[in-house]
Amino acid sequence: MKQPVIYFDHYMLRDIETKDAKDMFEYGSDMDVVKFLSWGPYMDVTEAYGSIKQFFLSRPQRGLPVGYAIIDLDLDKMIGTVDFHTIVSEGVVEAGYCLNKNYWNKGVMTKALRKLIEVGFYYHGYHKIIIGHANTNIASQRVIEKNGFIFEKEDPDKYYNRFTGYKEMSKWYYLTKENFK
Ligand SMILES: CC(C)(COP(=O)(O)OP(=O)(O)OC[C@H]1O[C@@H](n2cnc3c(N)ncnc32)[C@H](O)[C@@H]1OP(=O)(O)O)[C@@H](O)C(=O)NCCC(=O)NCCS
Repeated sequence: MKQPVIYFDHYMLRDIETKDAKDMFEYGSDMDVVKFLSWGPYMDVTEAYGSIKQFFLSRPQRGLPVGYAIIDLDLDKMIGTVDFHTIVSEGVVEAGYCLNKNYWNKGVMTKALRKLIEVGFYYHGYHKIIIGHANTNIASQRVIEKNGFIFEKEDPDKYYNRFTGYKEMSKWYYLTKENFK
């Protein structure tokens, strides 16, 4: 389940490692980053370390790659993740991502997701990738749209906002190898 190292602009994608805990804590303790996510905010760096071990490094046991860390090559700094976190069915996986706020709105995740899709279809041999976002997460919606995902449905039940305690509407998309250009 090892993945190729990928380069784009001044960034690199490589498998997440425990040494990323300090940088992951930086963005994982930021409420703006985690407010749509199922984890965080981290209170200390050991929580980030625990997450890496529990959620990322254990993925091969579930038949998944550990996930990519996004590295700023100029600073040698880990600034986010882009990964396949769930096997939906044979050859069908769900993707997700998050990024340090200092790097938002520069096109980083749009490019990182594109690289992940290429690795998913042409290296891992998946045939379909699904992805979703809370309706209010417009930045995530744009990243998905800019990568050519096809809108499938709105779902009132799939996204639970653990901070408000309510379910919220979310949008779901897919991309097949045939659709991907
Ligand atoms: C979602 C996220 C990964 C986007 O990363 P990013 O590198 O900033 O994304 P990009 O720069 O490639 O694209 C962002 C797009 O959203 C747009 N955008 C951002 N905030 C917006 C807003 N409030 N309203 C409208 N558009 C917005 C940007 O203008 C850009 O679109 P454009 O290229 O058409 O102008 C980042 O915001 C993040 O980490 N969020 C927290 C974690 C998260 O929500 N993960 C996804 C869970 S589904």
